[in-house]
Amino acid sequence: MATLPQRIVILTGAGISAESGLGTFRDKDGLWTKVRLEDVATPEGFARDPDYVLDFHNERRLIVRDAVPNAAHHALARLEQFWPGEVLVVTQNVDGLHEKAGTRNLIHMHGETGKVRCNICADVRPWDEDITTGLHCPNCGTVGQLRPDVVWFGEIPYHMERIHDALAACDLFVSIGTSGVVYPAAGFVAQVRMKKRAHTVELNLEPSDGASMFAEQVNGPASRIVPEFVDRLIERLS
Ligand code: APR
Repeated sequence: MATLPQRIVILTGAGISAESGLGTFRDKDGLWTKVRLEDVATPEGFARDPDYVLDFHNERRLIVRDAVPNAAHHALARLEQFWPGEVLVVTQNVDGLHEKAGTRNLIHMHGETGKVRCNICADVRPWDEDITTGLHCPNCGTVGQLRPDVVWFGEIPYHMERIHDALAACDLFVSIGTSGVVYPAAGFVAQVRMKKRAHTVELNLEPSDGASMFAEQVNGPASRIVPEFVDRLIERLS
């Protein structure tokens, strides 16, 4: 694209954290090939067997807590630091790797494993312990209704209004490490494409299901192609 983008929106998915040792969901050894998502990532699954769901999430929280960002997360933090316009990262990931790398302008549309939410009063707070059905909500006192603050299938992702406004205003949309099958995130590129002046780029290990929607595609591991992409953008400033 000829002119420098003023507003950049970057969507990230599990692929950006793959090289930090966090598995993806739908690849060959992905999480959803080992566990039934209906059992561990739906409100119905939680109502059926809360102990099973909480055990699963408690284990995930520990894995995520020890993970460190890779070169792709660091490159996005660098872009935010040096870019004269706005850079917004919208992540589907519930890990905290973007923050650990230093990204500040960040939306967790699927929530965060490091937080807990009460099903009754909707209180949300950071939580660095196992969640169990015996706990009471620190805000309303209800027992057995604490759950991880992550968005499950069938629930509405967070901050959608802010995300749609950012997509409507952006002139560069970049999608990194996401399979393009889970909505609403999978539909973001179509929303951006409706505006002729916005450029769209997919950075993914391989072409995703939605790859044909993007004007530009780069394939390869995120730890290599994201820093290269960011370097190319930053070089255009000089
Ligand atoms: N670098 C870049 N991309 C990669 C890498 C890598 N090292 N490894 C895998 N990928 C790509 C895969 O090719 C795939 O297209 O990342 C994508 C991961 O896709 P998914 O496993 O489907 O993860 P994601 O798109 O984030 O899933 C979306 O689904 O299960 C829900 O709520 C969960 O937020 C998640 C949502």
